[in-house]
Amino acid sequence: MYYIGIDLGTSSVKLLLLGDEGICNIVTREYPVYYKKQGWSEQDPEDWWNETIEGIKELTKDIDKSQVKALSFGGQMHGLVILDENDNVIRPAILWNDTRTQKETDYLNDVTGKKRLVDLTGNIAFAGFTAPKIMWVRDNEPENFSRISKIMLPKDYIAYRLTGNHCTDVSDASGMLLLDVEHRCWSEEMLEITGIKKGQLPKLYESYDVVGSIKKDIADDLGFGDVKVAAGAGDNAASAIGTGTVKNGDCNISLGTSGTVFVASDRYKADYENAIHNFCHSNGKYHYMACMLSAASCNKWWLENIIGTDDYENEYKNYSRSGENNVFFLPYLMGERSPLNDSEIRGMFYGMSMSTTRQDMSVAILEGVAFALRQNIDIIKSMGIDIKKSRICGGGTKNRLWLEIIANVLNIELEVPENQEGASYGAALLAVRGCSEEEYNRFLSEMKITAVIKPDINIVKKYEEKYRQFLKFYPAIKNIL
Ligand code: XUL
Repeated sequence: MYYIGIDLGTSSVKLLLLGDEGICNIVTREYPVYYKKQGWSEQDPEDWWNETIEGIKELTKDIDKSQVKALSFGGQMHGLVILDENDNVIRPAILWNDTRTQKETDYLNDVTGKKRLVDLTGNIAFAGFTAPKIMWVRDNEPENFSRISKIMLPKDYIAYRLTGNHCTDVSDASGMLLLDVEHRCWSEEMLEITGIKKGQLPKLYESYDVVGSIKKDIADDLGFGDVKVAAGAGDNAASAIGTGTVKNGDCNISLGTSGTVFVASDRYKADYENAIHNFCHSNGKYHYMACMLSAASCNKWWLENIIGTDDYENEYKNYSRSGENNVFFLPYLMGERSPLNDSEIRGMFYGMSMSTTRQDMSVAILEGVAFALRQNIDIIKSMGIDIKKSRICGGGTKNRLWLEIIANVLNIELEVPENQEGASYGAALLAVRGCSEEEYNRFLSEMKITAVIKPDINIVKKYEEKYRQFLKFYPAIKNIL
């Protein structure tokens, strides 16, 4: 039997083929992001669809396609996809890292009020969430707003094209600010506040529920028989499955375009401070999550756009691991979500002198992201959640120096799973669970850790001091411009 996991990411769609004994093939296909104005970030859902279909063909070209049993998704969260009454896309999707909605976000937090939002949804408003985006379309593109027949999230558009079902899952829906997270249903009051009708929203499922089968004409084109489609999850909840972050208190850090700290929780607990998110997990339970808008993307920006190299390995090869670097970097290239909730703040280097080297600046990027992760972990700990170790996944984990820096800054052990595929692997496991819970449990129990990165007490001390200095920057610069 084969199962397909589709991670509909921001820069690419990653497809993974899982056989009975493990991963058989992986295919990645890229598509553009459009930054039409400062703070805007959009994509064309047709690009997602074309690359996903071509990716499935490439992924399965050498196997007996009649053996493909099910597929599922991990998807970039929060993105707004709107369809008209003929199910045509009305405007480009507005993505999770688009920050045009500060006014709508402020309205929700200040006028509706944070306490009420947490009572209704478990969360306060952040500029990246879907509800403020809907309000932005309502106020700035009334003609488009009046044509909305269906609202959905990025991966749900692909599920819709494959099955004809307007569906979503509770983990991804948690990031819309329209879901009553505790009770796993739409919040009638939030629909009223944002001016939308329940019929415009997709049907809710658990992540492992089967929402339908691939439509006959598409299945024929792909050479498939009856292939079930499971609802899937937001990419972080899918990554958590892919790294085995399923038990109460388990922690996973994801170093992708965004940087997230994800903690699984058996119970729902409202947090009125709410600097971090309180969402449904894809295993039927809950999780807390902090999301930084720029993590591995800071490193990519610096190396590829600024110093002009794609030789990531060489850049750090000879760097001393002493933890001594006078340069600071604030990783706010797209503004920041957790814990600052400030879409206007931007990145910064500080502390350069005549003796500063290019490598000092490259390493400051890795450290800056690690300090911002630490700030989030400290907030999660202040909620009474003990984090002694964490799994870590995502593209950034290929950089061993970065893993060491993070272990030392956080002063916790990091476990690197054998399988680094994160969301695409988690998505394939959700497809497995849609068919057989027993098989799913077998895959989870066979997961292996291939490396454990332990903190080094001497470097931990140096980083503790530098972290205290890092914390002073944001309050000092936030009102400069
Ligand atoms: C999570 C978030 C990001 C995106 C990235 O809240 O916004 O992690 O899901 O794809």
